[in-house]
Amino acid sequence: NPKAIILVGGPSRGTRFRPLSLNVPKPLFPVAGKPIISHHIAALSKVEDLKEILLIGFFEDSVFSSFLQDAAREYPNLHIRYLREYQSLGTAGGLYHFRDEILRGNPDQVFVLHADVACTFPLVAMKKAHEGHRGLCTILGTRVPRDSANNFGCLVAKPDTNEVLHYVEKPETFISNLISCGVYLFDCAIFDEIRKSLENKKGNVETDIYGREVFQDGNKLRLEQDLLRPLAQSRKLFVYETKDFWRQIKTAGSAVPVNGLYLEQLLQASPEKLAKNTPGGPEIVGAVYIHPTAQIDPQAKLGPNVSIGPNVSIGKGARVRDSIVLDNVDVKQNACILHAIIGWNSKIGCWSRVEGTPSAAHNSTAVTKSGLKIQSITILGKEVSVKDETIIRNCIVLPHKDLKSSCENEIVM
Ligand code: GDD
Ligand code: GTP
Repeated sequence: NPKAIILVGGPSRGTRFRPLSLNVPKPLFPVAGKPIISHHIAALSKVEDLKEILLIGFFEDSVFSSFLQDAAREYPNLHIRYLREYQSLGTAGGLYHFRDEILRGNPDQVFVLHADVACTFPLVAMKKAHEGHRGLCTILGTRVPRDSANNFGCLVAKPDTNEVLHYVEKPETFISNLISCGVYLFDCAIFDEIRKSLENKKGNVETDIYGREVFQDGNKLRLEQDLLRPLAQSRKLFVYETKDFWRQIKTAGSAVPVNGLYLEQLLQASPEKLAKNTPGGPEIVGAVYIHPTAQIDPQAKLGPNVSIGPNVSIGKGARVRDSIVLDNVDVKQNACILHAIIGWNSKIGCWSRVEGTPSAAHNSTAVTKSGLKIQSITILGKEVSVKDETIIRNCIVLPHKDLKSSCENEIVM
């Protein structure tokens, strides 16, 4: 039986996701109506015989407890747990540290998924491809524009066999536009390779006063450089290329395009989960998710690419598109929210505008306007209030701010 691991990171990571990560750990931020990692779990739940998912990270245990309760209710056949690293151990350090837990029950394969990616997670197809070759690992790959390739793990593969000939993590010069999506399927024999790679690493493993194996400071075990690279060298790494969408979720603003892609996918697969135009209801354009507890005035207009959270109230004549509106937000009449994320409990006054600037750039949420780099998605932190008839454009606003006058291209602290 295969198992799965989601690498959720910890509080010292996700800094680019501020100010939203001040109030919720990034893996639990909602896109298309549910936490980021729920999309991972939904895909894993479709893999035959997969019964156990381990979240590995260095957040406090309490961070995931209510999420895990909800997940247990939604997926009664899956056993989902959180394993906490006592410190950041690197992308493969946690795998090694918890190897006994992972190998319990003798799984034959393990999926490893980064929490901060969004895609269709074609895991079943990956598994099929994996079983058709003799590699120890199948890595999900995608093509990105040439000028952004160097921000990722780059792969050079044999076109006929998909065997990976070179793996280079964030290379300085261009080597390939085929990159790693942060989604892998490993044979369990991988743990022998991890052990070997550890022994090769200078400094090696030490035992601390509690008898735990630790890596010397600054000597984390990195999945990419310490494991994938040697795997490619020994011809045990294969790529499965997806043609579907793929995005990283690094900055807070990147949640908006990701929200749009997941909503589009839902519109095709289960349109019943999305808002519809009904007589006497608000006007809905394209893919829009509205939480059942939200109150939307029939004269408001929403969409495309809009998610409305629990207990939100949207007033008469308001317009929302390409935006995420989080729990308990109050949007007064005729307000306009475009290309924005509105934090929990915020209040948007009537006739005000909170807006960003649409960006066509792939995997980027900054745009350049008259030579200046500006924030393309406007983000309001938790409990921000925007006065009536005020315009907030291309701004990031920290929590608890009272905006009484208009602002543009600013970080409001
Ligand atoms: N448990 C745990 N412990 N998780 C970690 C740790 C750690 O010490 N460090 C990072 N992670 C998790 C992050 O939360 C994230 O989900 C994932 O591992 C990778 O994060 P980064 O280390 O920030 O790498 P990256 O996103 O810049 O690049 C990686 O992902 C790209 C795809 O998104 C690389 O694997 C690239 O090769 C790849 O293209
Ligand atoms: P529609 O006119 O809605 O079909 O779309 P459009 O192609 O004009 O969309 P665009 O992206 O240009 O504008 C977004 C929407 O926001 C438009 O539909 C406008 O009606 C609406 N809008 C723009 N400014 C305001 C505003 O200040 N208040 C309100 N309530 N709505 C606005």
